[in-house]
Amino acid sequence: MKIIVTDNYEELSDKAAEVMLAVVKADPSAVLGLATGTTPLGLYARLVRDRAENGTSYARVRTANLDEYKGLPKTHEQSYAYFMKKNLFDGLGIAPGQTNIEDGTAADEAAECARYDAVLETLPRDIQLLGLGSNGHIAFNEPGTPFGSGTHVVELAESTVKDNARLFADIAEVPRKAFTMGIRQIMQARRILILASGANKADAVYKMVCGPVTEAVPASVLQLHPCCTLIADKAAAAKL
Ligand code: F6R
Repeated sequence: MKIIVTDNYEELSDKAAEVMLAVVKADPSAVLGLATGTTPLGLYARLVRDRAENGTSYARVRTANLDEYKGLPKTHEQSYAYFMKKNLFDGLGIAPGQTNIEDGTAADEAAECARYDAVLETLPRDIQLLGLGSNGHIAFNEPGTPFGSGTHVVELAESTVKDNARLFADIAEVPRKAFTMGIRQIMQARRILILASGANKADAVYKMVCGPVTEAVPASVLQLHPCCTLIADKAAAAKL
């Protein structure tokens, strides 16, 4: 794993934007695996600003997101579909037909997982962006998820519900289940870029990089990926 430690979140976001822009410039029809959460917001803002200033085209890019809360329609402000539209797709001119994400409202969970598995088969990702859960999760693959997993529905860990409650009016509103891309599919991406910011990620960063490769720490599987870059700020890298 290549590791880049930055002084702060702003620098982390600058470096992450450099990596993503290099991928899109090298191949304007690149397939981008994307993440939600707080960590990529600085990166997304930089990509939007770059397009406004430099006209980088995303007309042929296609995207696949990691996960979606079960039960939330794409019009719900806390849905990940809404998050992506608001924070990235509108600003980059990426039309809905170029994007892919699980349908949180799908009644038949197995059919929705099979549909998304099939979508991912046809969309080999040139780069997969990841955030890191404070418990070591990647996407919503919580500790204990088999490394061979495909798209599935998860019961969110209590710590994840608590971590994400800040974005909802009340913790009771945080969905308890989500659809997520599996670890096998994350590992299929040609390149992985994982971002970690803040002291509350320091334990997870340490275990991901220095600990044993174990399903108890899902992100530790990234030690096995041939082309994975971690960009962490000083606070998140403090235990390395
Ligand atoms: C988001 C996702 C999650 C987050 C992780 C970190 O699509 O899959 O794994 O990346 O929970 O979230 P933040 O960035 O909010 O700390």
